[in-house]
Amino acid sequence: MTLDLAVKGGTVVTASDMFRADIGIRHGRIVALAESLDAPETIDATGKLVLPGGIEAHCHIAQESATGGMTADDYFTGGRSAALGGNSSFIPFAAQHRGMGVTETLDLYDGRAAPNSPIDYGYHLIVADPTEQALTQELPAAFARGVTSFKVFMTYDLMKIDDRQFLDILTVAKTHGAVTMVHAENHGMIGWMSERLLAGGHSAPRYHAPSHPELAEVEAIHRAICLARLVDAPLVIVHVSTEAGAKLVRDARAEGAKIFGETCPQYLFLTRDDLDRPGMEGAKFMCSPPLRDAATQEALWRHLRTGTFTLWSSDHAPYRFDATGKLAKGPDATFKQIANGMPGIALRLPLLFSEGVRTGRITLPQFAALSATNAAKLYGLHPRKGTICIGADADIALWDPDLTRTVTAVDQGDAMDYTPFEGMRLTGWPVTVLSRGRKVVEGGAFVGARGAGRFLARARADMTGYAGTRAPELDPATNFGAEIAP
Ligand code: URP
Ligand code: ZN
Ligand code: ZN
Repeated sequence: MTLDLAVKGGTVVTASDMFRADIGIRHGRIVALAESLDAPETIDATGKLVLPGGIEAHCHIAQESATGGMTADDYFTGGRSAALGGNSSFIPFAAQHRGMGVTETLDLYDGRAAPNSPIDYGYHLIVADPTEQALTQELPAAFARGVTSFKVFMTYDLMKIDDRQFLDILTVAKTHGAVTMVHAENHGMIGWMSERLLAGGHSAPRYHAPSHPELAEVEAIHRAICLARLVDAPLVIVHVSTEAGAKLVRDARAEGAKIFGETCPQYLFLTRDDLDRPGMEGAKFMCSPPLRDAATQEALWRHLRTGTFTLWSSDHAPYRFDATGKLAKGPDATFKQIANGMPGIALRLPLLFSEGVRTGRITLPQFAALSATNAAKLYGLHPRKGTICIGADADIALWDPDLTRTVTAVDQGDAMDYTPFEGMRLTGWPVTVLSRGRKVVEGGAFVGARGAGRFLARARADMTGYAGTRAPELDPATNFGAEIAP
C-alpha cells in the first residue's frame, strides 16, 4: 500500500494496550500498523512514546464572559498552545448569553474559529437562555450541526439556570443523544458568603476561596445528579474540586447512573495558599470552583487513579494579569470583580505525565485514556479521534518520556503574560504532534498553520456499558416517559 508518511520505531500507547509498531499514514488517516513500514517521509520515533493526539475538552477560547470580558486567547493562539501541549484537537465553548439565539451563537463562533484554528475543533454550547424556541428548535438544530454537548451553570448571576430549566435541557439533550455538562456550585451560598466577607472588609483575592465553600459544590453536585437521574440523562460534572464531590460522582456511577466527572490540573497542583500571594498576585490563581488544600489534592489523585474521573481537562480560561483581564476593574478590585479562570492548556498533559505517569500514580494506558480516548468517546468523536487504530485520523503525539523542562510563561505559546505553574520542573514532554498527518509541532516548536483546523461535527456519545437508572417515580407509560425513552 502506498503511504504518505510513516512513524517508525516507537512504542504505541492506547487506552488499552502498549506495543511496538510502525504507523502508516495516507491522506491524513492511519492506514497501517505493522512491525516495519516504509514511506517517502518518515518520522523516527525511536525511544519515544506514540500516543493519540490529545483532545482538550474544556477550554475557553475567544469567549466573552457574561459581563463582557474577552479571553486573551483566540483560536490561533489557543490552538497553538494546545498543540504545544500534545493536543491535536480541542473543544472550546460557544457561549450563548441571554437574549442571543443558539444558531446566532454558533455562527458567531464559526467566524472566530474557522479562519484561525490550527487544529481541529468543535464546540460545547453554553445554554444560558433556554427559551421555548431554543428548547424545541435551536438545540435540536445545534445537535444536527454536530454540536452534541451543552453546558449549563448553576451559579453566576447572568448565566445560571434554575432546576426546572435544567430538567428541560437535560431532557432535550437526552432525546437527541447529547451530553449535558454542568458547572455545579450553589449560587445562594456563594452570594451569601461573598456579601458577608465584603461587608467585613475582606475583599482581597484570598477571600475568593471562602466565598465558594466546599459545601456549595457538594450541594450542587448532589442536586445536579438527582436532576439527571430523574430523567435518566447523561451528565458530566465539570471541574470537580472536592473529595466529597468526587465521591458523589463515583457513587452515582457505581449505581449505574450515566454520571461522569472531570477534574483539572489546578486542583491537584495548586492550593488556596496561592491565592494569598502578596498584593494582587493571588488574582492569577482565582478560578471557580476555587483551589482547595493539600489533603484534597491527594484525594483527587486517588480518584483519578481509580477511575472516578473520566476527563482530565485544563479549563484554560485565559485572562491576562493586566487591565485587559484580571485587573479590568482596577488594581484594587474586590475578589468579586476579578475574572475567574486561569491558563494551562499547554500543561494539562505534561503535568499529568510528569506527576502521574512517572510517579506511578497512573499507567500509560490511563494517560492515553485521560489525554484523548475518554473525551473522544463521551463527546462523540470516537474512533475517528482519540485512539490509534486503522481508519482513525492520524492525530498523534510523540512523547519524549525523559525530557525535563522548567515551566515558564513565554514557552506556553498562548497570549498570556503568566502561567500559574511557573518554575515547575516536569519530565516527559510532547516533541512532535500530528493533526490529520500534518505536523503542528516538530522538535517541541509550533509549525502549524492558521486556519488549517477543521470543524468537528460530532456524533452522539458512546454510552456503551452505562445502563442508566431512571428514577422509579418516573412512569415510562406516561407521555413524558415515552417522549424521553431511548
Ligand atoms: O473559573 C473558571 N473556571 N472560569 C472559567 C469558566 C468556568 O466556569 O468554567
Ligand atoms: Zn465552569
Ligand atoms: Zn471552564
